[in-house]
Amino acid sequence: MTLHEFSGHRKQTRMYVFYSFLFLASLSRIAARAEWCYQSQVTCEHKCEGPSEWPKIASACGGNKQSPINIVTKKVKMEGSLPAFKFQGYKETFHSFITNNGHTVKVNLSGAAQINGGSLGSTYKAMEIHFHWGKNGEHGSEHTIDGEQYPMEMHLVHIKSTYSSVEEAVKDPSGVAVFGFLYEEAESSNQKYDPIINALVNIPFPDNRTSLQSLSLDSLIPDQTMLSSYFRYEGSLTTPDCAESVIWTVFEQTIPLSRNQLSTFSTLQFDNETAMVGTFRPVQPLNSREVFYSGCTVVSVNAVLVVGTIFTTIFTLNTIK
Ligand SMILES: *[C@@H]1O[C@H](CO)[C@@H](O)[C@H](O)[C@H]1NC(C)=O
Ligand SMILES: *[C@@H]1O[C@H](CO)[C@@H](O)[C@H](O)[C@H]1NC(C)=O
Ligand SMILES: *[C@@H]1O[C@H](CO)[C@@H](O)[C@H](O)[C@H]1NC(C)=O
Repeated sequence: MTLHEFSGHRKQTRMYVFYSFLFLASLSRIAARAEWCYQSQVTCEHKCEGPSEWPKIASACGGNKQSPINIVTKKVKMEGSLPAFKFQGYKETFHSFITNNGHTVKVNLSGAAQINGGSLGSTYKAMEIHFHWGKNGEHGSEHTIDGEQYPMEMHLVHIKSTYSSVEEAVKDPSGVAVFGFLYEEAESSNQKYDPIINALVNIPFPDNRTSLQSLSLDSLIPDQTMLSSYFRYEGSLTTPDCAESVIWTVFEQTIPLSRNQLSTFSTLQFDNETAMVGTFRPVQPLNSREVFYSGCTVVSVNAVLVVGTIFTTIFTLNTIK
């Protein structure tokens, strides 16, 4: 081999290494680009990783304590020892932002509102609200009850008060406590939701963000006296990476919104001009888990009212005599 040939060979090797590098780089770019998405986004033209492919992106998504689940009320374990929650700071109004993150809309919270009780074992602070919905107000909740899918579901994400972010909290098997609230279609609109519904028109596209009129967490959830009936189980985040570190509480009392209000969420968009609809993960196998139910406290409240009414009636009759 002459010196000239040798350097030509070296050049070829270098070119080969260079092209291999380009090839590998493009491969890894394809892998990185394979974004997770909801089933409603999977089409022939638009390839993304739908829910059945999530375990490929994040192995925890294929675990055996995944969420959401279908709650079979006939099989829940009545648990008298699941007490009511204590809410702190839920009545305080706050200023925040609402963001279209390409998968949902979320409201970031400061952690000032806290919960304890409810057999949680520690204090948790509220960090985020986000929603899951269907198309134009039709079936879109993540949790289902006896197979019924509600039009929408809100997740109020809390983390143990000792942590500073959800990312940190998911490393603890009980680091996150999510409250799931189901919505029901109502005849009239729910004015307490105006700040959120009115903000949606300003954030149609991914990464759009707008400030939210001041509101309190209390204004978004049912009256606290109605929150003692709930389902409890151990599960996961419902989006990749599906960390199995969530104590779930799904409340029985629903939140009313009008059809118009529910449909407004369908005016948001995923990437590339497709309507942001069907933003829910299908229900996951329960496996060996148990679902607990706090008991029919709502019924006993009614019973107290009935007894009270009878007593008042007797008392009134007596006074009239
Ligand atoms: C929400 O996030 C924005 C930007 O990251 C921040 O400026 C704002 O203070 C946060 N709001 C709350 C209530 O934490
Ligand atoms: C929303 O996003 C679009 C596209 O990225 C951008 O053109 C527009 O200015 C954004 N609007 C707001 C309010 O951020
Ligand atoms: C966006 O959608 C349009 C129409 O459906 C399509 O022609 C275009 O290729 C899409 N763009 C991207 C970046 O996917």
